[in-house]
Amino acid sequence: MISKKLQRARDFEKKYLPYTKDELPKFHVTGGIGWINDPNGFAPYKGEYHLFFQYYPYDTRWGPMHWGHVKTKDFIHWERLPAALAPDSDYDKDGCFSGGAVELPDGRHMLLYTGVRNVRRRNGKMESFQTQCAAIGDGVDYEKLSLNPIIDASLLPEGGSVHDFRDPKIWRENDKFYTVIGNRCADGSGTILLFESEDALHWRYVSVVAACHNQFGRMWECPDFFRLDGKTVLLTSPQEMAAIGLEFHPGNGTVCLIGSFDQSTHHLMRENVQAIDYGLDFYAPQTLETSDGRRVMIGWMQNWETSGSLPQELRFFGQMTLPRELHVKNGRLYQLPVRELEACRGVRIDYRNVMVNGETTLRGIGGRYLDMRVTVRPGNENNMYKWFRLYVAKDGENYTYIRYKPETGTIKVDRTHSGFPHDIVNVREFQVNTPNGELELRIVMDRYSLELFVNGGEQAASCTLYTPESADAISFASDGMVLLDVEKYDLVWE
Ligand code: FRU
Repeated sequence: MISKKLQRARDFEKKYLPYTKDELPKFHVTGGIGWINDPNGFAPYKGEYHLFFQYYPYDTRWGPMHWGHVKTKDFIHWERLPAALAPDSDYDKDGCFSGGAVELPDGRHMLLYTGVRNVRRRNGKMESFQTQCAAIGDGVDYEKLSLNPIIDASLLPEGGSVHDFRDPKIWRENDKFYTVIGNRCADGSGTILLFESEDALHWRYVSVVAACHNQFGRMWECPDFFRLDGKTVLLTSPQEMAAIGLEFHPGNGTVCLIGSFDQSTHHLMRENVQAIDYGLDFYAPQTLETSDGRRVMIGWMQNWETSGSLPQELRFFGQMTLPRELHVKNGRLYQLPVRELEACRGVRIDYRNVMVNGETTLRGIGGRYLDMRVTVRPGNENNMYKWFRLYVAKDGENYTYIRYKPETGTIKVDRTHSGFPHDIVNVREFQVNTPNGELELRIVMDRYSLELFVNGGEQAASCTLYTPESADAISFASDGMVLLDVEKYDLVWE
């Protein structure tokens, strides 16, 4: 049964989506209209990959959360499906918050999400109650269960918060279902709880997989938990982080914990903690395993801190990153765009050993839809260059640049002149691992974004841009002699 609220969202989409087509990015997922945040339910279903997202179709601001829906076979071309969930039941009347999806053994598709119910207290304060609810369907239409909520306060460990209990990520393994859920414990900071179930409907609490202990932010949102390259990985997005060096910026951040899973305590034994993405716009990623065994991650290519800023004329807000293939190497998380992107590569232009000292452009190197690799080396062994800058999305007024300084081993991404109408955070700096002033930058650009992958994916930094499409010049600049290799592909699709 499609509720009135869901029907209204679907009718709204049908009516207005045709008008926004020309203003959308080419290969990054958006809601098409209105607001989106976190990716949800990113998982295979019947040979395709489905992606849902936090969605408010009626405005470019956050509102009562629905789930929007797209699917793909190749992570690049996405088919838009009608909205999947609306906040239309008593237990989710204030929002269908983030969650996951899984294919059930009988072929049905189950969505597990957080139902939010707000209650106003006598003192006027609003309290949010969060439980985990399910809807089952056929890949287009979903029916909420009469059993809902299926995971509620009664399953929480002692001290667990009923107000911050959200974002279940569900998966199936060895004929059992598991879910990790963000929660807040007695010390006020985040924990990630593990639950298990035989039938995906009746759940048991297992353990605290990892706890924040007020060290990396406060509440931990949107967990994902998987094994990769012999390690166990937990991704989570903390709120209210304090900055730690150049590794973690303040505010809403992302954290990747890598270690091993203790089978007796069901606890993650940490070996490394790092940021997932070092750019300005990244939050709440989710992963899936592809049919050929790759671990692929997609994130919300926005951040709460900067999410109010968009040009007035746009009728959509929020986009996802490119799906990225993950690996763990040398104890660190590596990420590169899915290899399927290569099928969109058009004309290739290649330069080797270009000496730069000052600023230069290279014939044929420009554009706003591109996949480009720039390899930087010192041009003079005895005199290390002071800095190197790559300018993109450039014209007389606009530019975005990536600057690398060998002396400090840092990269700075600066999008101050990139079309934003507000004075939001526009600069981010992070430490890279580059001995001898040698570094590889790969950038992928779509209409409103730049995703940077450093040194074969050892670090990624994502940011959105609203620079006019006509600003498409690229230049290379340095203080001191630098040798460059540049390989650029235009990205094209039908
Ligand atoms: C993270 C988040 C989630 C929540 C959702 C609400 O960005 O705050 O914890 O489920 O957004 O839209």
